Amino acid sequence: MERTFIAIKPDGVQRGLVGTVIQRFEAKGFTLVGLKLIQVSRDLAEAHYGEHREKPFFSGLVDFITSGPVVAMVWEGKGVVAAARKMIGSTNPLQSEPGTIRGDFGIDIGRNIIHGSDAVETAQREISLWFQDNELANWSPTL
Ligand code: CMP
Repeated sequence: MERTFIAIKPDGVQRGLVGTVIQRFEAKGFTLVGLKLIQVSRDLAEAHYGEHREKPFFSGLVDFITSGPVVAMVWEGKGVVAAARKMIGSTNPLQSEPGTIRGDFGIDIGRNIIHGSDAVETAQREISLWFQDNELANWSPTL
């Protein structure tokens, strides 16, 4: 079954949006298979954002994601990678539609609350970067 990596960034945690984000994914029908609150190391941040290494905002991005705790999650379900990106909205919250997480709660591209994998292959890479196999629960709802 398809899985995606979702991180609630330090601004989302500090603004008390953890419950709201989890509630939206649960209500949509996706299954939570991994969850932890972590202080991200610079090594992990640089590996996660490696594709942006040459961008002018790279060091600010690493500073920000390491500035406070992050809630890292793995969600599972049919089409979850693309659906999560729709639920999250555009990178710039000012251009995100109302009803999306960034559209409802943000205004700043550098403080955009949440990250979601952009493709199935990216999700696999990000999940293995952030989680050990034994931190993921292999389960399906039966009720
Ligand atoms: P995210 O989905 O985590 O992936 C890369 C992040 O880089 C993105 O969200 C934004 O938070 C950040 N980002 C992208 N473009 C810019 C920009 N022009 N200035 C600052 N941060 C940016």
